[in-house]
Amino acid sequence: MRALRFHRHGPPAEVLRLDDVPTPEPGPGEVRLRLTHRPLHPADLSMVRGTYGRSRDLPAVGGNEGFGVIDAVGEGVADLAVGQRAIKLGEAPTWQEAVVLPEADVFAVPDALSDTDAAQLFVNPLTAWLLHGAAPPRLGDVLVQTAGASAVARIAAQMAVRAGARAVSIVRRDDHRDRLEALGVHVVVADANTSETRAALREAVGADGAAAVFDPVAGEVGALALSALREGGTHIVYGALSGEPLPVSPAALIYRDVTVRGVWRTQWASRAPSDTIHDTLRVLTAFAVAGAYTLPVDATYDLGDATEAVGAALAHGRWGKVLLTG
Ligand SMILES: NC(=O)c1ccc[n+]([C@@H]2O[C@H](COP(=O)([O-])OP(=O)(O)OC[C@H]3O[C@@H](n4cnc5c(N)ncnc54)[C@H](OP(=O)(O)O)[C@@H]3O)[C@@H](O)[C@H]2O)c1
Repeated sequence: MRALRFHRHGPPAEVLRLDDVPTPEPGPGEVRLRLTHRPLHPADLSMVRGTYGRSRDLPAVGGNEGFGVIDAVGEGVADLAVGQRAIKLGEAPTWQEAVVLPEADVFAVPDALSDTDAAQLFVNPLTAWLLHGAAPPRLGDVLVQTAGASAVARIAAQMAVRAGARAVSIVRRDDHRDRLEALGVHVVVADANTSETRAALREAVGADGAAAVFDPVAGEVGALALSALREGGTHIVYGALSGEPLPVSPAALIYRDVTVRGVWRTQWASRAPSDTIHDTLRVLTAFAVAGAYTLPVDATYDLGDATEAVGAALAHGRWGKVLLTG
């Protein structure tokens, strides 16, 4: 079968190559998922570069989530059957035609959930859910986010608006203002922390300040977002898109009693009991089916077109994910 692998770390478009590997057979208690849709996430590309918080033995297959159909079932599997639509949980890689998984690492999805929504359920909606769990913006609160057009930020914003909070998102380009506003998001365009951008953000947030910041950028833009936190507010860093540290003034910590912390879905998913993960995914599935958040796709590429797919995933101004099919 085909597998998109890297034999060394480096720029994804350079080091990813399509290899022919043996098709795995499920053992007792395992099933084989024939994958058809797999996103390219920033963390996936970071893992290929060798800069992610976890690494795989080389040569390694890329990717961390995917949707498909069960096409083989091992002995003793009770609750899953051939033909069932499902997604992969756990840490097995997905940029390959098939993956063998223990039963607990398979989440069967209902027919009402589309293939492309299912393919994106385990990473970004779950991350948005965990961010809300860590610092829930409540009725009347303000949530400030950086990288406001990113998938996680869009989902978290839709969840905040549903909770009766106000969502203010900082974006570095104005391409998606109309789409974000249609989701109920107030847009602030800024890529620096200046007196002008702080004033614009303050105006959008209001005099009471923000209850929470969800920040995958850090650096100056993170500091800008942090400047809008109210006393006792929480700033969660969950990405490092700027490549810069988050500068935090002692005054923010002392006089405004601000909390700065991180959230990492990968760690949560590797530590949470299987039942908790399945229950959480059932909730996220119900929300997706009800249209409570959306998971648009920007483009799809065959597994064999990795260079083009990586180029599309790294392009600026995307609205939605790039998926690998085939
Ligand atoms: N901690 C966790 O558990 C966890 C889980 C999921 C995701 N994440 C992280 O969350 C971030 C977003 O992931 P995603 O899948 O939602 O992203 P995505 O949908 O692929 O979109 C990336 C977005 O980030 C923007 N961006 C990139 N670099 C930026 C910068 N330096 N300053 C401001 N904006 C920038 C892009 O804007 P342009 O269009 O302008 O380029 C784009 O809107 C990533 O860092 C990812 O690793 C963390």
